[in-house]
Amino acid sequence: MNTRDQSGPVPAGNTPAELRVVSGQLPARQELPAVGASIPTPGVALAGARVPGSPTLPEWDPNSLTLVMSKMASEMFNAPPVPAESPSSVLATPASLGGVPGQNTVPSQGAVPATGAVPATGAVPATGSGSPLGSGAPAAPVSSGSPFAAAPSFDRLADFGQHPAASDLHLSSYSFPLLDDSVAAPAARPADPVAVKPENGRPANPQPATASPPGAQPAVDGPLSPSFSSAYQLDPKVDLPLRSLGGSAFDPHAIRREFPILEERVHGRRLVWLDNAATTQKPRAVIDRISTFYERENSNIHRAAHTLAARASDAYESARETTRRFLNAPSVKDLIFVRGATEGINLVAQSWGRRNVAAGDEIVITWLEHHANIVPWQMLCAEKGAVLRVAPVDDSGQIILSEYEKLLGPKTRLVSLPQVSNALGTVTPARQMIEIAHRHGALVLVDGAQAVSHMRADVQALDCDFYVFSGHKVFAPTGIGVVYGRSELLDAMPPWQGGGNMIQDVTFERATYQPAPARFEAGTGNIADAVGLGAALDWLMRVGVENVGRYEHELLDYATAQLPSVPGLTIIGTAPDKAGVVSFILAGQKTEEVGGMLDREGIAVRSGHHCAQPILRRFGLEATVRASFAPYNLFEDVDALVSALHRIQAGRGTR
Ligand code: ALA
Repeated sequence: MNTRDQSGPVPAGNTPAELRVVSGQLPARQELPAVGASIPTPGVALAGARVPGSPTLPEWDPNSLTLVMSKMASEMFNAPPVPAESPSSVLATPASLGGVPGQNTVPSQGAVPATGAVPATGAVPATGSGSPLGSGAPAAPVSSGSPFAAAPSFDRLADFGQHPAASDLHLSSYSFPLLDDSVAAPAARPADPVAVKPENGRPANPQPATASPPGAQPAVDGPLSPSFSSAYQLDPKVDLPLRSLGGSAFDPHAIRREFPILEERVHGRRLVWLDNAATTQKPRAVIDRISTFYERENSNIHRAAHTLAARASDAYESARETTRRFLNAPSVKDLIFVRGATEGINLVAQSWGRRNVAAGDEIVITWLEHHANIVPWQMLCAEKGAVLRVAPVDDSGQIILSEYEKLLGPKTRLVSLPQVSNALGTVTPARQMIEIAHRHGALVLVDGAQAVSHMRADVQALDCDFYVFSGHKVFAPTGIGVVYGRSELLDAMPPWQGGGNMIQDVTFERATYQPAPARFEAGTGNIADAVGLGAALDWLMRVGVENVGRYEHELLDYATAQLPSVPGLTIIGTAPDKAGVVSFILAGQKTEEVGGMLDREGIAVRSGHHCAQPILRRFGLEATVRASFAPYNLFEDVDALVSALHRIQAGRGTR
């Protein structure tokens, strides 16, 4: 059924062809040329011409670079040995990867199989400290196809200082220095760039390179200082290592390997996890980060002078800073840790709402809401005598903006809207709705629970007043979530729960409170899972949420094209702008039974009302079957779903 490349199309001009690894010494930092210029060292260019469609580094930061390097290195380590043309000598230099025949300096351990020398791609530590290649691990022998004598520990990247914005990074090559003490200083002058052509997803033997251009300086002249910088250049034509990082060149297989649960078998079948809108699975980086917290850092926070309290407090506050970067919030003080989006909305309703909403005031929501964005406002309106108004959607499941605007007026205190509908996948015109609400003097809360794993959530670009999301929908643990609030609003809001951590001083007569965010974090919070949330957001930022969104869109388009081939299947929610969700009904079948039959095939979908009864009733339904996507899903997951539905409709049940 599906004949397409599982990894999505590779843009023209970016065919998987070669991994180029060259070496050389970068000039000192102050001499670094501007992007687009070349470093006058053989084979090393910081950035070449722009190549349309070439992969783009999602984040030009040390974590991303480390990830790129780890992916590149694991490919190199897995390269088959170079045919022995000369006796093994002591060390491989970076350039010996494809050194001139006869000059190859193949490590004596070269006969040792390469696999296992380096962890699979993406085994990046959660916090950015440590090495994706196993910092501190004993140097493992590596393949003679490797430029290294032993598995290096890329735990320090030279600081490049100022970098251009990620959007400017359409580079034809990536080149950056590494500080790697485990690599011995090369003894010989390296040869010129070489190409390693991937075969069946693995690089084949290195090929000899052409001779150095006349007058070229040697890239590495001899022993380097302890803080030596070697530069390794990646050509973006590389197949595997960059696919999970760059644009359409996205590798869901590499992503999958980071999610241990995807190895599970269900009823003897490969697990096909298509219930991501209910909760996402967790990458190894998150699982390991939580284990490390309990093994090495566990303590209550902000309360003691001892070392573990400091470690735990640092880890918790560092997760808040990661969240700040993820949301592009102006300050960590604007971010409150809560249990999830539901608790976040309740916090705003109880704290801001009770103080600012009075009888006759109006709160506007939409027909798309999850119950979590209906019930807290209903409760507030009932208490205050305020009115809840609901913006309608059209038959595709998109908000009718003109009708929405008609609901707004001088009585509107707040609009609370979803960025993405959990039941239908509709992406709402949130930015426009916020602008309209502000024009009418209303504040806006954005429920980002279903958006954060699919698209950039930039609270400043959205210009929202509050933003909430749940960690578990974005590869983090359950029981942790975030409220962003504009600082002027948070500063003026009363606490909604009292207890320890949130107070400045307590007597029996009165208590004074901490400023935000502590004022809203009474009691001992979910410290470890906040740290896990930081790891998850770090992970997603390294992969690039835009890359994820682009790939999921391909899955969604594919599913939307394939599902109607199932007799009696109707897709519910057909808005042009959707993210990662396809909801449907099957004529003659109860949704629960469909869910059960799919489960017997190892396919997990959600069937039911998705905690969003009003929007389903808008379509005359009480339930749908919902498949929802994440970056680890494959086109064959869609195929598995579609085939199983065909069998169900043919009355053949499961295989
Ligand atoms: N809100 C979650 C869902 O949409 C549980 O399935």
